[in-house]
Amino acid sequence: MQIFILTLFPEMFEGPFKCGLFQKATDSGVVKVDIRNIRDYTHNKHHTTDDSPYGGGAGMVMKPEPIFEAVETIKAEIPPKEKVPVILLTPQGRVLSQETAAELSQFYYMIFICGQYEGIDERVREYLVTDEISIGDYVLSGGELAAMVVINTVVRLLPGFLGSPASLLSESHTDGLLEYPQYTRPPKFRDWEVPEILLSGNHAQIAQWRQEQSIIRTKTRRPDMIKKGKLLH
Ligand code: ADE
Repeated sequence: MQIFILTLFPEMFEGPFKCGLFQKATDSGVVKVDIRNIRDYTHNKHHTTDDSPYGGGAGMVMKPEPIFEAVETIKAEIPPKEKVPVILLTPQGRVLSQETAAELSQFYYMIFICGQYEGIDERVREYLVTDEISIGDYVLSGGELAAMVVINTVVRLLPGFLGSPASLLSESHTDGLLEYPQYTRPPKFRDWEVPEILLSGNHAQIAQWRQEQSIIRTKTRRPDMIKKGKLLH
């Protein structure tokens, strides 16, 4: 997968993509992340990327020209027949879910646009962007952190990212349920014992216990997931 990120703050991405499994995935070629500074696509003397809003009002609005030029430059570097989602991170987008992550993981190329300031010229949304994603009903100061979250959810689904792909099958949200409780050694820590069933070696009973725990957990913590009918998946 090849991911392009358009941002005014490339340095924000240095941490999350340079450690742990993500670094491994980059080194092994599972994913390539190409971070481009929107300012590099400006042509005015001061490399301006924003301006005041028409009609007045507080704050600044990101100009359309550098963003269009950046996306068009990237698209010219990609084989023309490839389908490339152009994703704007915005609190106005559809809210990220595990389904959205799975859907995006099917693409080979992806372009993310990180907005800043009060907003972005509407023509970017209307004529350039193919998808708008929010990571939740709250407002961040920019789209960068949201892009990191979306990219993390997508990339960890790629073959070769996780050491043990089987863990994808049992984790929270994959089957519409929260994951069951996990334990490891020691069997008794302070006064707290690991549920006996997990030490029994009876795989069928363990599987049943885990399924029950998942359902109980989801009902008590996230009844909305049950109401949505996700339990039936
Ligand atoms: N930019 C600002 N807030 C955001 C959010 N909640 N999701 C995605 N992008 C954002």
